Amino acid sequence: MKTIIEQIDIRQMNMDIIRRAGEILRAGGLTAFPTETVYGLGADALNELAAKKIYAAKGRPSDNPLIVHIADMEALGRIAEDVPEQAKAAADAFWPGPLTMIFKKTEAVPLGTTGGLDTVAVRMPDHEAARELIRAGGGYIAAPSANTSGRPSPTTAQHVEEDLAGRIDMIVDGGAVEIGVESTILDMTVEPPMILRPGAVTREMLEEVIGEVAVDKTLLDSVSHTAPKAPGMKYRHYAPKAELTVVEGETDQVMCVIDRLAREKIAGGFKVGIIAAEDTAGRYGTGEVKCIGARGDEAAIASHLYGILRDFDSIGTDYIYSEAFGREGIGTAVMNRLLKAAGQRVIDAGDFTGRREKNV
Ligand code: TXA
Ligand code: MG
Repeated sequence: MKTIIEQIDIRQMNMDIIRRAGEILRAGGLTAFPTETVYGLGADALNELAAKKIYAAKGRPSDNPLIVHIADMEALGRIAEDVPEQAKAAADAFWPGPLTMIFKKTEAVPLGTTGGLDTVAVRMPDHEAARELIRAGGGYIAAPSANTSGRPSPTTAQHVEEDLAGRIDMIVDGGAVEIGVESTILDMTVEPPMILRPGAVTREMLEEVIGEVAVDKTLLDSVSHTAPKAPGMKYRHYAPKAELTVVEGETDQVMCVIDRLAREKIAGGFKVGIIAAEDTAGRYGTGEVKCIGARGDEAAIASHLYGILRDFDSIGTDYIYSEAFGREGIGTAVMNRLLKAAGQRVIDAGDFTGRREKNV
């Protein structure tokens, strides 16, 4: 299959391209498109066969449900039942935006879209072109992140092309996304509502609007023995090909540990990447160092994370060492994705230096 790639300028949207993308979606095809979080791989959510094509193109396990994207509030009633008042308040405050809410599904939503569940995840993206495309495609577009299953989510159309060219009908290229990590997932079928995946809409922001919000405890423990409630969160996800380790602790100690580990691997003939904040990036004397943003600017760090992991893949990096970053605001989501990408491999720099010194 030849994948059509079309660029759109979101300030003066080319409606002709949107219309063609919509026709592909209505005919049961696959179109990747930008949202404010990451690029999505769209298909008609109410057409079971179309939704199934998504699983094939991504190599995604079929028990991992898709998020249904809508363009306006009127669309919600056809796919979701028992929408609580709290959900309406959250929608008022955060839609369009990086929040996905889970409801009981109606008959209209095929089980092929929800991975066999009787609930449906719904999001209204804060991206003009995405919403136009959803309307053009029939109003209900299932869209997981547009990456091959297991790779970091795409934040540019080039990332989508790397993973899916030849496997999907079209890519709408709207440039780099704004946020860079996937939406917050909030389960509205439980009391109190529960966060299943952290994102740009934080627990504090939600609690201000709807009161108490719980957090899936598998997100809090680094090593948990229970399965996360969002099926997709159980997979080793967001992962680069290199072995990634996060080093946390006091900055000078972190740098010292990363420097030592990097030198050991390089001496062994391996290619090493380092992910560092702006204040430390220039101070490493070894490895391929990538600056992820200023420490404390969690939004900048979020927007660079997946691109950096992909860049290291493309240059054939064997080992990546990353500093840990702040958990303020979207920082919770950044650290959640970084630790998942690392398969929870974390070194405490304080312990590590102590242990090494005792050994000499
Ligand atoms: O920001 C985003 O949410 C992006 C953009 C494209 O909108 N989409 C995205 O989709 O991240 P995906 O498929 O990569 O992640 C969806 C997550 C998975 O972990 C899945 O298991 C969970 O949502 N999910 C979907 N429906 C669910 C449901 N009914 N119950 C529990 N978890 C659900
Ligand atoms: Mg994904």
